Amino acid sequence: MLIAQLSDPHVRPEGELYQGVVDSNAMFATAIAHVNALDPRPDLVLLSGDLVDHGQDDEYAMLAKLLAALEVPVLAIPGNHDEREAFRRAFAGRRWLPGAGPINYVADDLGAVRIVAVDVTLPGLHHGTVSEAGAAWLDRVLADEPRRPAIVMMHQPPFDTAIPYLDLYSCRDGERLAAVIARHPQVERIVCGHVHRFMQTRFGGTMLCTAPSTTTAIALRLKPDAKPASHLEPPALLLHHWQPRTGLITHFVPIGAFPGPYPFA
Ligand SMILES: [Fe+2]
Repeated sequence: MLIAQLSDPHVRPEGELYQGVVDSNAMFATAIAHVNALDPRPDLVLLSGDLVDHGQDDEYAMLAKLLAALEVPVLAIPGNHDEREAFRRAFAGRRWLPGAGPINYVADDLGAVRIVAVDVTLPGLHHGTVSEAGAAWLDRVLADEPRRPAIVMMHQPPFDTAIPYLDLYSCRDGERLAAVIARHPQVERIVCGHVHRFMQTRFGGTMLCTAPSTTTAIALRLKPDAKPASHLEPPALLLHHWQPRTGLITHFVPIGAFPGPYPFA
C-alpha cells in the first residue's frame, strides 16, 4: 500500500496569494500533479490539515476545484486554519466524514493499513489538545483490530519541537495520547502536519513524523528567543510505503522536476 501525505496547502480564494506573497493554489496544483504522475500511483492521499488559510467558503470552493484534478482517493482532517463546519460542508457526502463533532474516523477499506484520523483541533484556537473523549475513542477503535497495521493522522503534533514559536501552538495533553498509543503496537506511525517541516521523533513507543507543507516552510530557528519566519524552500510530500516484508517506510519526496536521471554506480 502506497500512501501520499500532502499537508498545509493553505489554499486561498481563486487569484489570491498566501500571505500576500506566495501562490499556494498553484503550488498545491503542482503537488497534485506530482502525485498523479507517481508510478506506481499511490492508493491514497492523506491531507493533514490547514487545507485552506482562513476557513472561508470561497477558499473551500477553490480547494474543491484543485482536488478535482487528483486521481487518487483522499482522506482529510482539518487544521487550525480550517473552520470545522465549512470543512464539513466542503467534504459533504464523503463516507468517512462524521456528521457532527470532531472529524474523527477510521478508514479501513483502502488497503492493508487502517487510517485512524483524530481531530485534535480546538475551534477558534491555534493550539490543539488530545481530549479525554478523543483518547477514549482512539483506544476503542485501535482495539477493534489489534493485528492490522495502522497510521494515526492528526494535525498539530503532540510534542515540543524546540522551535519556540511553534511550541506555543502544539497539541497539548500529548501524554494522554502516548498512553493510548503505547497500548497498541500495531500503530506503525503517527503522521502530523502543522509545523511545515519534516521532523521525526519517538512517541508512545512508535514513530511520529510531521509532513512538510506544499507551500512554505516554517523557519528552523532553535534559539529560545527566535522570531517566527518562513521561507519558500522546495516543497515536499511524504510517501508512506507499506509492505508486509519491510513494514512502513516513509520517504521524503521533494515536489518538482529536477535534473537527471543520471547513471548510478
Ligand atoms: Fe499550516
